[in-house]
Amino acid sequence: MQFLEAEFVQGFIRMANDGWEQGWHERNGGNLSYRVKPEEVEEVRESFVEKEWQSIGTTVPDLAGEFFLVTGSGKYFRNVILKPEDSICMIELDNKGENYRIVWGLVNGGRPTSELPSHLMNHEVKKQVTNGKYRVVYHAHTTNLIALTFVLPLNDETFTRELWEMATECPVVFPAGVGVVPWMVPGGREIAVETSKLMKEYDVAVWAHHGLFATGEDFDLTFGLMHTVEKSAEILVKMLSMQPQKRQTITPDMFRNLAKDFKVILPEKFLFEKEK
Ligand code: 13P
Ligand code: ZN
Repeated sequence: MQFLEAEFVQGFIRMANDGWEQGWHERNGGNLSYRVKPEEVEEVRESFVEKEWQSIGTTVPDLAGEFFLVTGSGKYFRNVILKPEDSICMIELDNKGENYRIVWGLVNGGRPTSELPSHLMNHEVKKQVTNGKYRVVYHAHTTNLIALTFVLPLNDETFTRELWEMATECPVVFPAGVGVVPWMVPGGREIAVETSKLMKEYDVAVWAHHGLFATGEDFDLTFGLMHTVEKSAEILVKMLSMQPQKRQTITPDMFRNLAKDFKVILPEKFLFEKEK
């Protein structure tokens, strides 16, 4: 099969373009990665041209030997659909999870996203805690959520509770809540370590004054999660722009009732009584 005809490649390209159309990917902002299934690797193996091994910049032993489809560093999401072979690549990890090599794509040179350490460390944690179910890690520069990191206190409890209150579907879509990483220098191991710690508990991590990381089983669920969180952030921005106080909202007991009917577990740490 031609590499670009494979369903997982098409799904990846569509998701990148959907993100571009949402306005979350100015210039080269954001990055996307997919942990490829063994049978999908075999579908496209005949197209591989193996390049030299390079250091990942961190160690991910539980991902040794796995293949990933990832966006390229400095590449624009708006170009992924037009010239995927120039904008994305498939990489293989070595048997220690210390190095990677490009096996397809980035035909005009370049390297995988500068956030590769964060992507791979998040994949490693998610593979462990979901028994291999999660395959997608997505980083986007979601406008409203970023705006909120300038006005809300930077903690998991506040962000989760405020986002939950803005749309009834939210606690059902991300019942575990969202984690918050304070401002850190992007692109390295340190921010990757902090983000992957949060991913043990959450599917979503906020990067203050920068963007959002979302993880999930497949492209639809992960894009849908990013979209839901950002939509909720947009409602909160609109609400705060009209007036700083809510006249009415969803209360902790209302959330508890919702949890019962929708059969989700909502951690009590997010259902605190607010000071009047
Ligand atoms: P890359 O172009 O290296 O993927 O970086 C974009 C980005 O959003 C960094 O956080
Ligand atoms: Zn970014």
